[in-house]
Amino acid sequence: MESVALPLEGNDPMGAEGGARSRRSAQQLERSHESALAAMTAVSSYLDSDEDLPEFFGRLSATIAEQIGARRAAFWRLGPRGTLALQPAPFGFEDHSAVYEARLPLGARGEGVVERLVFADELGLVGGTSPDLDRIWREAGLENIKNSIGVAWRAGERRIGMVAVYDARHGFAAQDLWVLRLVGAAAGLLWQYKESEDELGHTAVRLEEAMAARRHLLNNIAAGGDEARRRFASALHDDSLQLLTGAELQLERLRASSAGNDHAVQLDQLRLTLRKVEDSLRRLLTNVSPEPLHLPNDLSEAISERLESLRVRAGIEPHIESRLPVDIPQAIQGIVLKNISEALTNVEKHACATRVTVVVEGADGGVRVAVRDDGTGFVVAESVRVPGHIGLVAVKERAQLAGGWCRIESEPGAGTKIEFWVPMTL
Ligand SMILES: Nc1ncnc2c1ncn2[C@@H]1O[C@H](COP(=O)(O)OP(=O)(O)O)[C@@H](O)[C@H]1O
Ligand SMILES: [Mg+2]
Repeated sequence: MESVALPLEGNDPMGAEGGARSRRSAQQLERSHESALAAMTAVSSYLDSDEDLPEFFGRLSATIAEQIGARRAAFWRLGPRGTLALQPAPFGFEDHSAVYEARLPLGARGEGVVERLVFADELGLVGGTSPDLDRIWREAGLENIKNSIGVAWRAGERRIGMVAVYDARHGFAAQDLWVLRLVGAAAGLLWQYKESEDELGHTAVRLEEAMAARRHLLNNIAAGGDEARRRFASALHDDSLQLLTGAELQLERLRASSAGNDHAVQLDQLRLTLRKVEDSLRRLLTNVSPEPLHLPNDLSEAISERLESLRVRAGIEPHIESRLPVDIPQAIQGIVLKNISEALTNVEKHACATRVTVVVEGADGGVRVAVRDDGTGFVVAESVRVPGHIGLVAVKERAQLAGGWCRIESEPGAGTKIEFWVPMTL
């Protein structure tokens, strides 16, 4: 906070009159300190209250008026076009006062009276008031202001507006100006604090929205692949294969009616071709038809099953170390299983391995997985950019989208290790 010098009145400590005066100014000094303290307490009380701003400014204005001995007090906020307008809620003004409609222009290049008085600190007291400021109120339509002072409401160099007090019974003294300046500076810091808090609030809301979108996406990823496969498989089954069966039956009838003529041999060949098409479609169907859509009850059991079928089909010796926590969310289980399945499919397709080890365990509030094989290995940088080969890219993306990470370590001749971690919370 900027320092505000406290002016002392009557600095003539010599002589009888001097003694009385210095006693009076010591009392004034004490009163000013108390007033300043009370006003500052009112400002800082806002820091841990849930009051909204009008309520707060209403209370603060009342405290300031009371401490300074004024009948009214108001905060004026500087708008983008250099005009001061009343900040709700002022203290001591009647409901229909012109104060609510008043606009005080600062002047474009700082030549305005308010600019000079308030921001350049040139406010002079004459007979307990600032005649210049009083004139401004009159021009703004506020007829019944008897005396007034106003100071900058600011945060460091940043101008927020003005704090003004009106109508002290015996006019305003230099100490009142001092107290008011302190209030203006404290209210400025508070305003800045409030603004950054709001901003933080907005950021937190945006972050929460982004998190919700990510959760949504993630759940879709966990279920989406299966869903697409299911739709494809049923279209294949209900449409293409049935049409094909229809075509074969038609062909059968054609063959019967054309027995012995020139077309018979060609029709025979066509029938064979159709059989082959049907066979390959059925194979496709078994390949894409989703494995039980719903995830297994037990994740380590599901991993063991996949390892077992790898052993049966490819003769690769499996090892599993499972130390999984309970209550892993379904979407996370889905991601873990999909990533392990892709890694194991790769071992079967590419590695020529004899052994594969899967380690799954709870770590750092999530699930960590390592799939290691003793196969051929490969150059990681090359393989992740081959068009059409997206298995490993998908493994990485799934882990990262879930808020985790994935590392692929491999070298030709040295086997492969795929490691990833996903947090337990989405
Ligand atoms: N365990 C592994 N051992 C050897 N090579 C692998 C292994 N995993 C992946 N690769 C190599 O990385 C490439 C990319 O893998 P991936 O993205 O899963 O695509 P795809 O399996 O469809 O080829 C593979 O084509 C293969 O050359
Ligand atoms: Mg693959």
